[in-house]
Amino acid sequence: MRARALLLAGAVVVLAGCGAAKTAYPRPKTVEGSVPKQTAPATTSTTASTTTTAGPTGAGGATSGKALFVKNTCNTCHTYKPAGANGKIGPDLDKLPQYARVAKQPLDQFVRTSIVDPKAYVEKGFPPVMPSFASLPADQVDALVKFLTKGT
Ligand code: HEC
Repeated sequence: MRARALLLAGAVVVLAGCGAAKTAYPRPKTVEGSVPKQTAPATTSTTASTTTTAGPTGAGGATSGKALFVKNTCNTCHTYKPAGANGKIGPDLDKLPQYARVAKQPLDQFVRTSIVDPKAYVEKGFPPVMPSFASLPADQVDALVKFLTKGT
């Protein structure tokens, strides 16, 4: 009897302990909620470190096209090997020279217009969902155009 009582008491204490712990820390929910948020800064910090690497080299604002490609979420919609991107919403940017030829535009101009005024020429078979990046500083558009035409 005594042993049982002790066991029971022990169980109650343990249960109470657990209960108290759970009640006292509604954190699991908070943690769950912040996981996606944590993922985002993690990605950003990767980007940031890339940018930091590029920063000292291009102190004058010569920003890395690759970093800008990720920072502006181009990678989420586009496949582009030099960026390690495999988005599927927009055209495969590895094929830009081919697309420019079909559009009968010089590659540089084709890419630039596509970035600042995507609706000027909508690639066949794709929805016109690309946002305009006309608000990017000119040097960043230049860096993106260079990255997409030269691969660096
Ligand atoms: C929301 C998805 C989305 C994002 C973000 C996006 N694009 Fe696009 N992009 C598209 C789609 C869809 C098209 C094809 C339709 C069109 O031509 O506008 C396209 C077209 C293009 C084209 C022209 C390709 C062609 O053959 O017409 C280029 C170049 C391009 N995007 C570059 C970029 C760059 C650089 C960025 C980031 C600064 C970017 N895109 C961000 C969806 C996106």
